[in-house]
Amino acid sequence: MELDALIVGLKEIVSPIHKGPVRGKEMGMLRVIKRANIGIKDGKIAYIGTEKPPALRKIQAKGLIALPGFVDCHTHIPFIGNRSSEFLMRLEGKSYMEIMENGGGIFSTVEAVRKASETELFQYNMKNLVEMAHCGITTVEGKSGYGLDEKSELKQLRVLNRLNKSQPIDVISTFLGAHAFPHNYRDKREYLEYLLGFTDKVKEYTDTADIFCEKGVFEPDESRRFLKELVKQGFRIRMHADELVNSGGGKLAVELGAVSADHLIAADEVTLETIANSDVTAVLMPGTSFFLKEKYARGDFLVEHNGIVALGSDFNPGSCNIYNPQIVIHLAVSRNGLSVEEAITAYTANSAHVLSMADSKGLLEIGYDADIALLDMDSYIDLPYMFSRKIVTATIKKGRVIAGDL
Ligand code: NIG
Ligand code: FE
Repeated sequence: MELDALIVGLKEIVSPIHKGPVRGKEMGMLRVIKRANIGIKDGKIAYIGTEKPPALRKIQAKGLIALPGFVDCHTHIPFIGNRSSEFLMRLEGKSYMEIMENGGGIFSTVEAVRKASETELFQYNMKNLVEMAHCGITTVEGKSGYGLDEKSELKQLRVLNRLNKSQPIDVISTFLGAHAFPHNYRDKREYLEYLLGFTDKVKEYTDTADIFCEKGVFEPDESRRFLKELVKQGFRIRMHADELVNSGGGKLAVELGAVSADHLIAADEVTLETIANSDVTAVLMPGTSFFLKEKYARGDFLVEHNGIVALGSDFNPGSCNIYNPQIVIHLAVSRNGLSVEEAITAYTANSAHVLSMADSKGLLEIGYDADIALLDMDSYIDLPYMFSRKIVTATIKKGRVIAGDL
């Protein structure tokens, strides 16, 4: 068999030891192969080793380190607009919630997204994806949640679908109609019923739903019925949980068998232990803690208690205008208490698991998609240390160079 391409001269090929979910201490056990080559056939990894089997094309990667392409399992694309004034207001003492309660925050992006044409929304976020490819990202999750009505929620989901088809990064969609409570409804229950009224249309785009379960937004008792109904309809559930206040979201995620509980910045030890003992993946996003000047979720505690931890950016115009995995990994290691190895597993195998893609993404192994980040470092352990340096030499997606200059 002739390979389509052979990446030659790699210093290290680094991969989690098995597919996601990888739990607890196993997250820290990477498989590292020194001085080897990666063969690609039909967009998949077909060879890993020191030989040079025949290939149509050689990709010279002398001295580079190969990691699975980063899987960002939590962003808020597609959005549009700029909320830098809120960032400055927070520095003057206003809280994230106060800004939202006064009609800013999520609501200001809702206004911008409702106003934008589908083409504007598409183009704005296409640019984001091109930049993300240059950071070594090969798969991205995005959500609705800036529409808050049927027309605009479906517009966001259509744009995600179009983005997925129009550029090389895989774009996976989630329905987040329950992102905020629009005040033209009598109460939250009425709004959540309204959302359930068009889930058949949502299903054309995604089988995954999320909710902002938080004090002052949708609290656990307001969320439970809605989420149970979604589960009945066949949706996988994810939850923004205990992001700002320890309000019971993480525990509800376990009760409902959610795929993930995301953020957990404010979660107490009992909640973290409950999650660690379950099959719910804790998705940590330290970029948000940094951007909001909040505490950091206890990644070390989750790993010690044998939990499944994934990392994501939370890229959005309000709470975290960050998409670069180098920054997120720096913070995960220096603030959340993960080791470099755990952070790598969290951003690859475990984030692929959150997106139901653990069989094709998140590992450098024969049969896996040839989604590869090629990094210019002495060793993979340099990753958090090099957080502001340009180390992504190239990004390979299904065997093709999509960013960088190789
Ligand atoms: O994950 N918490 C809710 N949603 C986002 C923020 C969205 C926004 O501020 O626009 C988050 O932090
Ligand atoms: Fe988020």
